[in-house]
Amino acid sequence: MKGRRRGDARPRVCFVIPTYNEAPNVTPLLRRLDALYAGEDAAFLIVDDGSPDGTGALVRAFAATHPRVHLLEGRRRGLGDAYARGFAHALDTLGAGVVVQMDADLSHDPADAGKLLARLAHGADVAIGSRYVPGGSIDAGWSPRRRRLSRWGNRLARRTAGLRGVRDCTAGFRAIRAETLRAADPARIRVKGHAFQIALLHRLVHAGARIVEEGIHFRERERGRTKLGAADLAAFLCQVLWLRIAGRGTFPKFALTGLLGVFVNLGSFQLLLELGVHKLLASPIAIELSILSNFLVNNYWTFGDRVMIGRKRIRGLKYHLASLGSLAVGGGTFAALSMLLPEAPPVLLQGCSIPPAMLLNFFLNSSWTFRDAGSGGG
Ligand code: GDD
Ligand code: MN
Repeated sequence: MKGRRRGDARPRVCFVIPTYNEAPNVTPLLRRLDALYAGEDAAFLIVDDGSPDGTGALVRAFAATHPRVHLLEGRRRGLGDAYARGFAHALDTLGAGVVVQMDADLSHDPADAGKLLARLAHGADVAIGSRYVPGGSIDAGWSPRRRRLSRWGNRLARRTAGLRGVRDCTAGFRAIRAETLRAADPARIRVKGHAFQIALLHRLVHAGARIVEEGIHFRERERGRTKLGAADLAAFLCQVLWLRIAGRGTFPKFALTGLLGVFVNLGSFQLLLELGVHKLLASPIAIELSILSNFLVNNYWTFGDRVMIGRKRIRGLKYHLASLGSLAVGGGTFAALSMLLPEAPPVLLQGCSIPPAMLLNFFLNSSWTFRDAGSGGG
């Protein structure tokens, strides 16, 4: 029995609700959900991370008389980590056909989940409970600072991380089709805190999901305290920038890898000198180490999702040849420019030799060394 029951078009809905110190809220929430969705094939999964206030015990007591309520307990590693575990459990163990993610502090009105589910029934893959579309609003109790933070964060995420189109990128209230969630593969998301929300949205966008937003009212919690902290904000900023770098094809990754190689080169060179190795020997060793490390990073990361046939050793050899070719082009460019512009500062000319060398290097490695056998008839 996976997701759909035979002869029934309605998928099983699994609510995934992370809790940390939500003792005053969790039982009222579960009571409301259970009543609202009495006629649905629904499951309510609370993901609690050993809350010291006894949230877990309350859920266990409630679940004893409500078999649709489930409790998944773990170690506290942040909101995102709790979601990753909760999603896996909902998909693999509870047979979810649709997953709804929401907060436990009653900020999200349980009745609004019905509106999100209706949007899925009408063809969307993801329905976001949105504060920033017509019909959406935020509690008057939100401080001007928190308002600004949320607006500003959303604008930044939308523009920078390539989430154009979505108004509420950080929303924690979403209904997602199980197939779509599987395709987005949330287990691969590395961020553990609140930044998980934009990372997941980014993956849903790139999985080709049809995403809609439904206006909801976000109520400020009445009991308990928010767990959103300064570390979450820092992680959010890093995540937005990271999505920008990592989400745009292979060239930015390749360039970043090259930068990393510079540090490996200089670092190992310095280390070798300190170990007493002669500089004329240390230099080629450092260069070779940076080529090797760049090769590995490009193999597993930059081009990591390509289907590559042939041995890694052969690819390593090709990578070295491509490096040699780029060396020749870079050196040739420098020599030619030096002859044409003998008065120009050498550093400037050396700088001008980097782009052609790097472009050739990228072109050779992308279309030869790490050629994708999975696309284009190969
Ligand atoms: N299991 C677990 N582990 N649950 C957690 C953790 C954790 O480390 N941290 C927070 N939670 C739970 C809370 O108990 C609550 O049910 C829910 O996650 C949201 O946490 P809050 O601390 O209430 O977050 P918030 O209200 O500041 O943030 C909300 O708005 C943000 C956008 O403005 C959430 O909806 C966020 O997801 C959203 O990004
Ligand atoms: Mn909250």
